[in-house]
Amino acid sequence: MKLMIDYVRPYFGKMSIGLFIKFTGTIMDLLLPWILAYIIDNVIPLKNMNRIILWGIVMIICSILAVILNIVANRMASKVARDSTESLRHDLFKKITYLSANQLDTYGIPTLVSRLTTDTYNFNHTIGRMQRMGIRAPILLLGGIVITLTLDPVLTLVLIAIMPLIVATVYFVSKKGIPLFTQLQEEVDQLIQVVRENITGSRVIKALSKENYEQNRFMRINDTVVKAETTANMTMSVNSPLMNLFLNTGLTFVILVSAFRVNAGTTQPGVIVAFMSYFTIILNAMLSITRIFVLMSRGLASADRIQTVLETEADMLIEKKDEISTEQHIQFEQVSFSYYQGQKILNEISFSLKKGETLGIIGPTGSGKTTIIKLLMRLYDIDRGTIRINGKNIKSIPFEELHSLFGVAFQKDILFADTIAENINFGRDLPIDEIIRSTDFAQADEFIDSLNAGFEHRLSTKGANLSGGQKQRVIISRALAGEPDILILDDSSSALDYKTDAKLRNAINNHFHQTTTIIIAQRISSIRNADHILVLEEGNMVGYGTHDELMKINEGYREISQSQMGGDKVAG
Ligand SMILES: Nc1ncnc2c1ncn2[C@@H]1O[C@H](COP(=O)(O)OP(=O)(O)O)[C@@H](O)[C@H]1O
Ligand SMILES: [Mg+2]
Repeated sequence: MKLMIDYVRPYFGKMSIGLFIKFTGTIMDLLLPWILAYIIDNVIPLKNMNRIILWGIVMIICSILAVILNIVANRMASKVARDSTESLRHDLFKKITYLSANQLDTYGIPTLVSRLTTDTYNFNHTIGRMQRMGIRAPILLLGGIVITLTLDPVLTLVLIAIMPLIVATVYFVSKKGIPLFTQLQEEVDQLIQVVRENITGSRVIKALSKENYEQNRFMRINDTVVKAETTANMTMSVNSPLMNLFLNTGLTFVILVSAFRVNAGTTQPGVIVAFMSYFTIILNAMLSITRIFVLMSRGLASADRIQTVLETEADMLIEKKDEISTEQHIQFEQVSFSYYQGQKILNEISFSLKKGETLGIIGPTGSGKTTIIKLLMRLYDIDRGTIRINGKNIKSIPFEELHSLFGVAFQKDILFADTIAENINFGRDLPIDEIIRSTDFAQADEFIDSLNAGFEHRLSTKGANLSGGQKQRVIISRALAGEPDILILDDSSSALDYKTDAKLRNAINNHFHQTTTIIIAQRISSIRNADHILVLEEGNMVGYGTHDELMKINEGYREISQSQMGGDKVAG
């Protein structure tokens, strides 16, 4: 509730004007049956054509006014809903962008996507509808009752007798129905999750011929959603027919009672006509009010889900930490880490690099190589140990400053639907010379030159219109551009042939003397010239030294090297 009020607050002025217009329009609507009754009972008996026409014109003006005022008010309501939702969506998006990797893992992407889409849509819908009906329905209900009381109190009693039935129905149906909608939203989240996995994994699914399995999985969750939706809607759909039943029964009673009263001369035919209109107006108003409750509860559930994200507190703060004076550029001191409790990913990892040195990391898939990089960039906080850059604990370095030190080519890095130049520049305003130079080093120049549009060649989403090797070279160019303090190549060479890989390493050796480099590789040839090599196995350091040292003392390393000898020779 607070969230809604907060985001609508800037539009209170506009909203009040809209609501006032709505109010006036609604009063017009309320007056119409009353005027009709007046014409039938008081004007027609006079048999004065001019007066009949005059009152007819009054009625037409009132109806036109009612329509126009309602349209104007509804439009204003939509604008308020649109603008407040826009700023909410903006804030939510910004918040999600700044969530830590850990928080993203905890929420999961699908629920964040649905909060950003379905829930903001519900928010918008609720705010719009509340302005349209929130004031109109109560006025129609109360105004209707007041007018009917003045017209004929006895007939009003018939109406009032039916009311408790309606209220009870609404209450019980809503009480059962509303939690069903909340549950439905959760099922939809899961459906989105399955669809997402399916689409991202579609290649694997095809390759393994798992289409049937995936279709069954989708059908199962789709079934659950359909069932949840059916139950929710079935429950709520009892409302309208029951209301109609009450309405018609009520009308029958009104006609019966009024027949007696007209005969007895206690009421007039015009009043009866007006009464039937009010009866419909009042019951419809009650229906609208129940819809408002359903709408509100859905909207509030969505607002809650949004608010939870907005109120997520930063879990990684910049802390004051000791600083040591050292000639080491990067230091890991007995670093241990797990993504969640009970799991062991990295165990007491230590290494030191001087400025300009190169570290090679080698180890099987899943041994924690990429995790070391994520920790160095402080995408996650470590459990034990210390990571220093230039002697400073990375927990004390502001994020922008920290992240500006790195040029990174991750294993599963992403290219955006933009030009090649912009994919390398990445919003850093680098001079074009620097971009061209980086593609030269990354051995990407040749293929870019062969494209018609060259650097202005537009990539499709995720760079799908490039080959794996071409993508990798653009990603490496991005990492090299701007001569970062720390360069990280995470398994970048696996998509390159040996020759290109060797050329890339030569370029880095010859032109990046001031850059401290970490290379993660599967091939010994990619890292054999590194100043230090770290051999990782299941999160443990099982070897650390130069290539020659490891060849002498580390059996595991020697075995990998020997099994790759063929490749080694080609690479020279
Ligand atoms: N976000 C994450 N949440 C939980 N576990 C993760 C996450 N990322 C990686 N892991 C796990 O951590 C281990 C090491 O992963 P990673 O560092 O990517 O290995 P490598 O790069 O050596 O292949 C793996 O077992 C992987 O499943
Ligand atoms: Mg990895």
